[in-house]
Amino acid sequence: MSVAKSVLLAIPVLWMLKRIFMPYLWQDLKFFYKVIIYMKKIEQALKQSPSFGVIDLFLKQVATRPNQPFILYQDQSYTYKDIDLKSNQAAWALMEHAKLKKGDCVAIFLGNEPAYIWIWLALVKLGCPMACLNYNIRSKSFLHCFKCCEAKVIIAAPELRNAVEEVLPALTEQEVLVFYLSRESPTPGVYSLLDKIEAASQDPIPSSFRSGQNVKSPALYIYTSGTTGLPKAAVINQGRLLISSSISTLSGITCKDILYIPLPLYHSAGLMIGVRGCIQHGATCVIRNKFSASQFWDDCRKYNVTAFQYIGEILRYLCNTPKKDNDKDHRVQTAMGNGVRGDVWKEFISRFGPIKICEFYAATEGNSFFFNYTGKIGAAGKNNRFLKAMRPYSVIRYDVEKDEPVRDASGHCINVAKGETGLLISKITVTNPFVGYAGDASLTEKKRLYNVFEKGDLYFNTGDLIMEDSDGFIFFQDRVGDTFRWKGENVATTEVADIVGMTDFIEEANVYGVPVPYHEGRIGMAAIKLKEGQTFDGEKLYGKVVDYLPSYARPRFVRIQDSIEVTGTFKQRKVELVKEGFNPAVIKDPLYFLNETDKRYKPMTSQIYNAILEKTLKL
Ligand SMILES: *[C@@H]1O[C@H](CO)[C@@H](O)[C@H](O)[C@H]1NC(C)=O
Ligand SMILES: *[C@@H]1O[C@H](CO)[C@@H](O)[C@H](O)[C@H]1NC(C)=O
Ligand SMILES: *[C@@H]1O[C@H](CO)[C@@H](O)[C@H](O)[C@H]1NC(C)=O
Repeated sequence: MSVAKSVLLAIPVLWMLKRIFMPYLWQDLKFFYKVIIYMKKIEQALKQSPSFGVIDLFLKQVATRPNQPFILYQDQSYTYKDIDLKSNQAAWALMEHAKLKKGDCVAIFLGNEPAYIWIWLALVKLGCPMACLNYNIRSKSFLHCFKCCEAKVIIAAPELRNAVEEVLPALTEQEVLVFYLSRESPTPGVYSLLDKIEAASQDPIPSSFRSGQNVKSPALYIYTSGTTGLPKAAVINQGRLLISSSISTLSGITCKDILYIPLPLYHSAGLMIGVRGCIQHGATCVIRNKFSASQFWDDCRKYNVTAFQYIGEILRYLCNTPKKDNDKDHRVQTAMGNGVRGDVWKEFISRFGPIKICEFYAATEGNSFFFNYTGKIGAAGKNNRFLKAMRPYSVIRYDVEKDEPVRDASGHCINVAKGETGLLISKITVTNPFVGYAGDASLTEKKRLYNVFEKGDLYFNTGDLIMEDSDGFIFFQDRVGDTFRWKGENVATTEVADIVGMTDFIEEANVYGVPVPYHEGRIGMAAIKLKEGQTFDGEKLYGKVVDYLPSYARPRFVRIQDSIEVTGTFKQRKVELVKEGFNPAVIKDPLYFLNETDKRYKPMTSQIYNAILEKTLKL
C-alpha cells in the first residue's frame, strides 16, 4: 500500500477514534484557547506599572462611550460619564469629611441602588477597599461582620436607620464614623453624606491617590453566607477582581448588551460578575432593589434586556409563575449564573425560548472554576484536560458522618471513581491562590487541606460535593453540610428536592435531614410549598417518592410551609428547619408522616411521635 493511500485510510479511522474516545476534543481545545487568550490579556494588564486595575478599565469606557447608559434603575438612567462625575464627587467628599486615606476600608450598608456603584468606584479611585455588608444583618452579626474588615467608616442607607441605631453605641465606642446616604441625619452621632457629596467638586481624582496598589491589594470584602455560623469575609484582591470578568467574557457579553442584575450587590455574583463584567465590556446594567418573579419579564421588556444573571432558585421561581401569552416576548438571549437544576433548565428554555444558559461553577473565595461550554443540560461545567493541567483539582471520597475526607492507611485522600459523588478540592498554587478570609485566621485554615496525595501538598476545600461523569461533565450535588447520612447511605438534598418538586401539586421543596433519638445519622424530611389553589395529596407524593427514590432517601416527614425561606443569595435555608425537627407539638405547620403499610403520607400525630421516641415504631 502506498503511503498516500494509508494516510487517506487513516483519516476516517482517526476521526472515528476521536468520535468514540474524545467526542469533546474540539470544544475542549476551543475553550482552552479562549481562556488562555483571556488570561494572557489579564496577565499583561497586571504586569503594567503603575498597576492596571478596574478603575482604569472604567475610565477607558468613560472616554470611549461617555453617553452610553451604564446604570438603569427604576426610571433613572445614568451614563458612564454621569457615574464617573458622581464618583469623583463622592471621593472628594469622603476624603474631606471622613478623612479617608489610601488603604482605609469603608463598610457599606446599602440596598441595590445606583449609589452602591458610584460609591464603590469612588473608593476604588482613592485606593480604599470596600466591605459589602449584607443589609439583612442585624445586631451581633452586624458587629461581627463589621469587625472582620476593620473599617473605620460606614455608609448606611437612611432606610436602615433602625439597624444602625441598634449597633451605634458599639460603633461609637470603636470611634467609627457613621454616615447616612441622605441630606440630613435624624440620629445623633450619625452624619449626613449626600449633601456633602452634592456640594463636592466633580474634578477627576488624580491617579497618584491610589498609587502603589498592586494585584495583592485588597479591593473588596465579600461575606459568604455560610449555612452555619457567622458570615465570613472573603478578601477579594485587585487581581481577583480583574479576573472575575472572565465569566461575562466567556458568556459572550459585549457593549451592546443590557444586563439585568436582580441579585444583591453585596454578593460576588452581582458586583464582581455583573457590574464588574459590564465595566469590562462597556455594557449597560439594570439593577433592581429586590428580585421579583412576577415583575421579571416586564422589566426585561421595559429595559430591552438582552442578558441576565441568575443564582440558586431564581429560574425555578420564574418557571413557577403563571403561564402568559407573552412569555416569549422579550430580547433576552443569554442567562449566566449557577445553581439551576436540570429539570428547571429544560422547562425554562421550552417556556421562555432558546435562551443560552451559561451555567458555571465558582465560589467567591475559591480557586476552582468550571463553565458550560458544550451546552450539556444540567451540568455546571466540564472538566477540560488542558485547563486541569494548569489548575489541578480532584474529587475525593468524603465521610459525611465524620464531616471530613476519607484517608487511606497511609493517611492520603482517595479519588472517587467517575460517576461517584465526592468532595471537590483544588490545588493551591502561586497561579491558583486561595487568599482566605479577613480576621480570624483559623477560618482560612479550616478551608485548607494538607498532605492530600503526598506530604506537603495543599488544597482548597470547596465544601461542595460534585460528580464528574465519564465524559467529564461536572454536576453539582450538594453542600457538604446539607448532605446527610441515613442507614449508612449518603442522601443529597438537592436530588431528593428535585424529585419531590416534580409532583404536580408542589411548587417547591426544601429537603434536609433531622436527627432521631437512638438512631445514627439523620432521617429525611421535606418542607414543601403547595402550588396556588392545590391541596396536599399524600398518596400521589408517596407514589412519586417510591418510584424515584431508594427507601433510605425518601423523606419520612413532610412539612407544608406558606413559603420556603431562602438566603440573600437565593439558597434554601435549612439550619432552622433541622433544629425544629418533626415534633407535631412544636411545629405549627401541617405535618405528615410516610406510612409504609398504608402507602401514603398521613397526618403526623403525637402518638406516632411518642412511638418513635419509645422505639416501638421502627424507622
Ligand atoms: C427599547 O427598544 C425600543 C425599540 O428599539 C426603543 O424604542 C425603546 O426606547 C427602548 N427602551 C429603552 C429603555 O431603551
Ligand atoms: C451552554 O453553553 C453553550 C456555550 O456558551 C451554549 O451555547 C449553550 O446554549 C449552553 N447550554 C444550554 C443548554 O443553553
Ligand atoms: C399506618 O397505617 C395503618 C393503616 O391505617 C395503621 O394501622 C398504622 O398504625 C399506621 N402506622 C403508623 C406508624 O401510624
